[in-house]
Amino acid sequence: MLRIVVCVSGGGTNLQAILDSIDNGTITHAEVAAVISNNPNAYALQRAERHGIPGACISPKQFEDRESFNEAFLQKVNSYQPDLVVLAGFLVVIPEIMIQKYRNRIINIHPSLIPSFCGTGYYGLKVHEGALARGVKVTGATVHFVDEGTDTGPIILQHPVAVAPGDTPKILQQRVMEQAEWKILPQAIDMIANGKVTVENGKVIIKET
Ligand code: GAR
Repeated sequence: MLRIVVCVSGGGTNLQAILDSIDNGTITHAEVAAVISNNPNAYALQRAERHGIPGACISPKQFEDRESFNEAFLQKVNSYQPDLVVLAGFLVVIPEIMIQKYRNRIINIHPSLIPSFCGTGYYGLKVHEGALARGVKVTGATVHFVDEGTDTGPIILQHPVAVAPGDTPKILQQRVMEQAEWKILPQAIDMIANGKVTVENGKVIIKET
């Protein structure tokens, strides 16, 4: 059984997609051990509570400096002994000590087709604002392993989504979530839980069944 810790900052619709996929058997051999938020008001924490999953809140704001937060955050994650850490809309930079300890065991969902509209400054609605400003006709979402860069780790899954005339950032965000994020994040977790994903020379290899 793959033990998962999900890190969140906001609404938690991706967390919900994971919980639903475990409940309906789309994800097998995995359980969510805990949900960690940096935001005490994140609705995602209520979703966890409703599901009987332990929730914890830890924010850089509670600490004197970033190093103290980084150590406490790592200890908090360690305390749940996860096999996989899932960043589902988590807006805090992951400490390097954690990336080293959990190499190829942290995944992130990003709401664009990496390498477009990613990196520092591209998160949440800003990603979709960027896509619309550039006038791309296709966008999408990416699930990738987390390395020391911002959105630079090995790509596990991507799914395209068409941009429609009249799209606003919010409309596009919703479509990308519905058509891509809520599908590929659970799918990637299921593949990892069932031993289908390896990383070789910085690239993901997916075992066919
Ligand atoms: C999602 O669209 C996710 O891809 C994005 O934040 C949103 C969280 O929504 N993540 C990033 O932008 C990370 N760079 P949710 O809380 O409803 O899952």
